[in-house]
Amino acid sequence: MKENEKVFITGASSGIGAQIAIEYARRGAILGLAARREEKLIKIKQQCLDEGAKEVITYSLDVADQEKSSGICLEFMNYSEKGIDIIIANAGVAYSDHLSSGDATQINQTLITNILGVTNTILPFIPSMKDTKNGKIVIISSIASFTLPAFFGGYAASKVAVRRLADSWRGYLKKYNIQVTTICPGYIRSEMTDINEFNMPFLMDTDVAATKMVRAIDNGKKTYILPWQWRPVIFISNLLGKRLLSRI
Ligand SMILES: NC(=O)c1ccc[n+]([C@@H]2O[C@H](COP(=O)([O-])OP(=O)(O)OC[C@H]3O[C@@H](n4cnc5c(N)ncnc54)[C@H](OP(=O)(O)O)[C@@H]3O)[C@@H](O)[C@H]2O)c1
Repeated sequence: MKENEKVFITGASSGIGAQIAIEYARRGAILGLAARREEKLIKIKQQCLDEGAKEVITYSLDVADQEKSSGICLEFMNYSEKGIDIIIANAGVAYSDHLSSGDATQINQTLITNILGVTNTILPFIPSMKDTKNGKIVIISSIASFTLPAFFGGYAASKVAVRRLADSWRGYLKKYNIQVTTICPGYIRSEMTDINEFNMPFLMDTDVAATKMVRAIDNGKKTYILPWQWRPVIFISNLLGKRLLSRI
């Protein structure tokens, strides 16, 4: 672990992103926290400072906005010591497809936020990471990138897309000592899952999940699926075909 690590996290106003911010705060990191809800970010900022963060800068940002995302990423890179150590593209929404509504607004919002939100906030950091031959890129995908969730095709497609982006970038960026880690969470307690009324197998608390995710990033994992119980389920289902997964 580097001293004064600089970490940029999108979707840091709640859930997984906020908890990962707290994990890095405990290491004394310099944090850039981005999301749309500024009042929530300010609360997380205070929590991070209480937990030991060296500095915390909050950015009110809709990751769908390419120009603003780029400006904010460059601003954070120029803050304090120049550069960036870790970018965690975590912001995401999980709206259902509204397949029979005749209206593509909701599915498009999922695709735009979850795919373009990732490219908008990762690409601005890459030239600097290449120059310094240092950096970790972390993309929060989902087990939905392996499963077939009914009514959430847009969400699943977005999570497949970002996992494939990471797989494609990894080889090229390795030459520049840039690590690319994809995290595929199962059900983790957060605002996203709090509204679910269905049974969520292997549901994990956010703080436990964030600790494991940060450890996976430290260990240079390529693709990290958690909770662990999903790994055999996905492996066996891939052998047996997708029917078992869609039932789950
Ligand atoms: N919880 C799970 O079980 C689970 C499982 C698999 C994958 N994931 C993934 O984990 C990530 C975090 O989700 P979570 O579970 O922690 O849910 P969450 O509590 O709802 O957090 C989502 C975060 O994304 C931010 N966000 C959403 N749209 C945004 C936008 N357009 N621009 C900027 N920020 C935006 C939200 O902040 P604002 O609303 O303030 O903008 C919030 O901070 C998501 O990518 C999700 O798909 C979660």
